[in-house]
Amino acid sequence: MAAVLVSTTINGDAVEFACPPQESLLAVLRDRLGLTGVKEGCGTGDCGACSVTLDGRLVCSCLVLGAEVDGREIATIEGMAENGKLHPLQENFIEHAALQCGICTPGFLMAAKVLLDRNPQPTETEIRYALAGNLCRCTGYDKIVRAVQATATELRQLEKKKSRRKKSKKS
Ligand code: FES
Ligand code: FES
Repeated sequence: MAAVLVSTTINGDAVEFACPPQESLLAVLRDRLGLTGVKEGCGTGDCGACSVTLDGRLVCSCLVLGAEVDGREIATIEGMAENGKLHPLQENFIEHAALQCGICTPGFLMAAKVLLDRNPQPTETEIRYALAGNLCRCTGYDKIVRAVQATATELRQLEKKKSRRKKSKKS
């Protein structure tokens, strides 16, 4: 079958690729574009290891076709650090020992970022609910939840500092 030509945006960069119509976005990202931070666990939408965002929505890239992302925006774990600096979620996963083998980690980080972008002050229940589609076979989930809670607190403090600075500039 003829390959499909796709133009998309990945982590802010315009990207074009060609793939067979039945190829998953997961396979495109890993095997065609070298974005191997996206992991394959189950390949059937059950583990969350392959999580990316598509137009800001969390999706399992194993359940999306590469051909479906034409004209859309994708974010992967490779785009989470900015200017060589880890995102506070990444820092806190390290700080709280929230990973062991690391296979599940990119998926957890993507899911946690989507949560915190939408809800800067989640309860523990909301965090556990938001991460329920991500499975970890090593750490247990408590350390991961603590890392997300610590990040939420840190980001709120940063926001407060920023708004205080803005106010003092105005006055
Ligand atoms: S590899 Fe996609 S959900 Fe498991
Ligand atoms: S750290 Fe190994 S599966 Fe989660």
